[in-house]
Amino acid sequence: MSNKTLAILKPDCVEKNLIGEVILKITGAGFKIKALKMVRLSEASSGGFYEVHKERPFYKNLVEYMTSGACVPIALEKENAVADFRKLIGATDPSKADEGTIRKLFADSIERNIVHGSDSDENAAKEIAHFFSRKELLDNFSE
Ligand code: CMP
Repeated sequence: MSNKTLAILKPDCVEKNLIGEVILKITGAGFKIKALKMVRLSEASSGGFYEVHKERPFYKNLVEYMTSGACVPIALEKENAVADFRKLIGATDPSKADEGTIRKLFADSIERNIVHGSDSDENAAKEIAHFFSRKELLDNFSE
């Protein structure tokens, strides 16, 4: 079990001015912010990040959408981080998400679903490395 996960506050979260509210939900649930930045993804970076979905019909739109505005990747630490964060954000499709989850509260659609969360410990490590250099993480993360 890992204690790390990657969140991305997606362009709809930034556009709707919800960065503060969503971060409050995350820290209120016991997650510690270990690294954070605001970035505008290039097509190559967005495509690479979602490479696992390359063959899916929604891939092109997803990559386009993720480059459409700024987003906020955040490296988080908590015991059981991956599973606990996915519980906090709710189902990918907000109409199927549990009451009180971040997606249920704030998201409009499966595509514009406010926030990303890593789906496994292995992917969490890869995804954190996608956005943060070792130097950015070294001082912050307990190894
Ligand atoms: P995320 O958790 O970032 O992981 C992959 C993303 O692809 C997902 O959130 C959604 O934004 C998007 N996605 C997944 N399934 C669909 C779908 N059926 N239609 C459109 N977008 C999808």
